Amino acid sequence: MSADQNRPDPAAKRTPADARPDWHETAPVVSIEDFSIDYAGERPVHAVVDVNLTLGRGEILGLAGESGCGKSTLAYGITRLLQPPGLITSGRVVFHSREGYDIDLTTISGKQLREFRWDKIAMVFQGAMNSLNPVASIGAQLDDVFTTHRPTMKAKDRHARCGELLERVGVGANRLRSFPHELSGGMRQRVMIAMALALDPQVLIMDEPTTALDVVVQREILDEITRLRQEFGFAVIFITHDLPLLLEISDRIAVMKAGHIVELNDAYDLYTDPQDAYTKRLLASFPSLTGERGDFIRTGAMDDRLEEGR
Ligand SMILES: Nc1ncnc2c1ncn2[C@@H]1O[C@H](COP(=O)(O)OP(=O)(O)OP(=O)(O)O)[C@@H](O)[C@H]1O
Ligand SMILES: [Mg+2]
Repeated sequence: MSADQNRPDPAAKRTPADARPDWHETAPVVSIEDFSIDYAGERPVHAVVDVNLTLGRGEILGLAGESGCGKSTLAYGITRLLQPPGLITSGRVVFHSREGYDIDLTTISGKQLREFRWDKIAMVFQGAMNSLNPVASIGAQLDDVFTTHRPTMKAKDRHARCGELLERVGVGANRLRSFPHELSGGMRQRVMIAMALALDPQVLIMDEPTTALDVVVQREILDEITRLRQEFGFAVIFITHDLPLLLEISDRIAVMKAGHIVELNDAYDLYTDPQDAYTKRLLASFPSLTGERGDFIRTGAMDDRLEEGR
């Protein structure tokens, strides 16, 4: 059977193209323009090369590509968390605030940058759960976010908000007094997500946020992120090696290779009609996407077929 015959019939998708938002048209929340990053050294590494991307307000944009292609470097560049010898060599990253102003993130520094992070753009990185302070309670660590970024907020309000956040991410307010070691890895990663959401950011950047977790926990957390996105309307840049997972949760997917974005398309279209040879190879490298039972797609096409006994 040819690979094409294994692909889902586009007519089987639950969300017709005309019912899906066109993310090219949606007001952008972040515009990345001609953005390049090098790691300086004897032989400089061009880790990110002339990247142009826009993130639509409320969109989940997946970033895929093999190890070392520059995904994390791009994330660190956008959030200005890049460490030497990493250096932004060209381009801009413009944040379009919902309050109506634009900021070029590559030009701000110090206090302005610190205020910006968490407040407007928050991050959850792989293994972030291990960065919780082992000797402080979950509640105290969440509270810290507010004392730092919302100094005028009253203790009572902070406490209520921390409890509410833990509820939102499915940990439960009764865990406020727990210490990190009393929680499972999945719960700790949920706490990190709660922290990232604490200040109602407009963008969430997640770099392999669930890779260290088992599949069931990973699934629960992803469902949670999709739900929270709908509730709060933040946009997400979601980075992972796991292309099947990206196809499921993303609105659009950008495929990165050796620092370049080689393809950017609606997730479904990228899956059914990949244009770039590298995207095709990447898709082919996941047997779950191309095998007999490979009609896995976020629209539920696979569920339909399984139910039909195919
Ligand atoms: N501190 C550093 N110094 C020099 N080169 C680096 C540094 N960090 C990353 N690189 C190089 O930059 C390139 C991009 O790395 P990056 O970590 O961004 O890739 P990635 O796509 O996130 O990979 P993975 O999927 O494994 O996380 C790679 O060639 C890597 O070796
Ligand atoms: Mg990485």
